[in-house]
Amino acid sequence: MAVRKIIRMGHPTLRKVAQELSVDELASENIKRLVKDLTETLEDYRGVGLAAPQVNESIRLVIIEIQGGETRYGHLKSMPLTVFANPSYKVLNDSTAGSWEGCLSVPGLRGYVERPQSIQVSYQDLTGASHQLELNGFMATVFQHEFDHLDGLLYLDRMTDMDKLVFEEELSRHHQ
Ligand code: NI
Repeated sequence: MAVRKIIRMGHPTLRKVAQELSVDELASENIKRLVKDLTETLEDYRGVGLAAPQVNESIRLVIIEIQGGETRYGHLKSMPLTVFANPSYKVLNDSTAGSWEGCLSVPGLRGYVERPQSIQVSYQDLTGASHQLELNGFMATVFQHEFDHLDGLLYLDRMTDMDKLVFEEELSRHHQ
């Protein structure tokens, strides 16, 4: 196991569409090792989600782990470590909400992004079994942010008002 280096905006891998994983690949030792590395890396950087492309692995794999309580995103419900392989989602209703998103690949900055707040996620686990999960509120936002990494998108691409792209220190001083 190892904490992996997170690549930053400007690295071409972050702009690629990542590859689907076969069931054989999902069950491989390489993927098990990668998931352990992603987990350690996420905890080391104190993030809530990490997509494989952020450690320069251009495959459709995301992990999310939310420790409930007070965080830099406000008060959160917890979500145990979940591995989403080959995920997809559909929006369940028109409700949207904005939040100040940050990204470990864009350190120091936060940007205000509006996203749907109720989605149905389909994904595979490491055995290849399919699952569906409804996510609401902040968890829906986190999932969509991580999912975008698999399609070569960053939260900045989702912003509609670039006045709301700010440094973290200025956010706490002027915007909250
Ligand atoms: Ni990100």
